[in-house]
Amino acid sequence: MSDLKHLRVEWDGDLAVVTVDRQEKLNALNAEVVREIGQVFESLRDDGHVRGVILTGAGEKAFVAGADIGELARMDPLTGVEVSREGQAVFLTIERFPKPVLAAVGGYALGGGCELALACHLRLASDNARFGLPEVGLGILPGYGGTVRLSRLVGLGRAIEITLTGEMITAERAREIGLVSDVVPRAELMAKAKELLRKITKNGPLAVRLALESIYRAVDTSTHEALDHEAALFGLLASTADMKEGMGAFLEKRKAAFKGR
Ligand code: COA
Repeated sequence: MSDLKHLRVEWDGDLAVVTVDRQEKLNALNAEVVREIGQVFESLRDDGHVRGVILTGAGEKAFVAGADIGELARMDPLTGVEVSREGQAVFLTIERFPKPVLAAVGGYALGGGCELALACHLRLASDNARFGLPEVGLGILPGYGGTVRLSRLVGLGRAIEITLTGEMITAERAREIGLVSDVVPRAELMAKAKELLRKITKNGPLAVRLALESIYRAVDTSTHEALDHEAALFGLLASTADMKEGMGAFLEKRKAAFKGR
């Protein structure tokens, strides 16, 4: 990960903080940034030291202000499909990431930036954050999963309104409609993001991983299939040392020390 141009990876214990840093363009996603995000998440996925990831944007103004419009303006129908597919694949890597990923949104999360936040498992916003899908105003549609994921989070009616008007909503409105977990002062965003993520990473890592898997499987399948899958994962966890540790710790009135096995 040493040759990254637009991404920074920092550590706080077992949490990785990934920062998109292309401040002169409000962290807009050109093809290189998208590739680097994919590269970083693949590398973190295979790193046993990582328990959770915070994804954020550099500077005070933006999380990510969208896909790079200068680049998009040059696409033709074939490259357009490729651009969309590449972004979708990288964002799917985030959604399927086996450890919790939290988007700390400290400013504009527009277009591809909003879609990037939607691909994360959780979103926390600062009070100056703004969300929106302005693509229709540019004559395109949200092509990094926005037409698929937004309605799952906020319902069809609100997703249609946000997508078709292309207008921004405030952080507070995003909280009201369930797009973000909470809104915090800008200066406290990173501390609060870590606090929220640590509430998750203190739990059994295998349990967290399989709970995420079960939740996302349920989005794509019938109730019966999803319940079968849930039961199988539930049974699988009964084979883990983490289950014995979690229940043993409760019964012995002590804190659990999970090993992820
Ligand atoms: N793609 C490419 N460049 C972008 C960008 C994007 N999505 N968003 C911002 N930038 C660039 C601006 O062109 C400008 O570059 P310049 O200084 O070389 O001219 C720089 O980032 C700063 O942005 P600016 O527009 O001057 O900041 P602002 O505070 O006046 O406005 C926004 C902020 C976010 C409202 C405005 O930049 C904007 O509308 N961006 C596009 C959002 C969008 O449509 N995203 C979806 C794309 S699919």
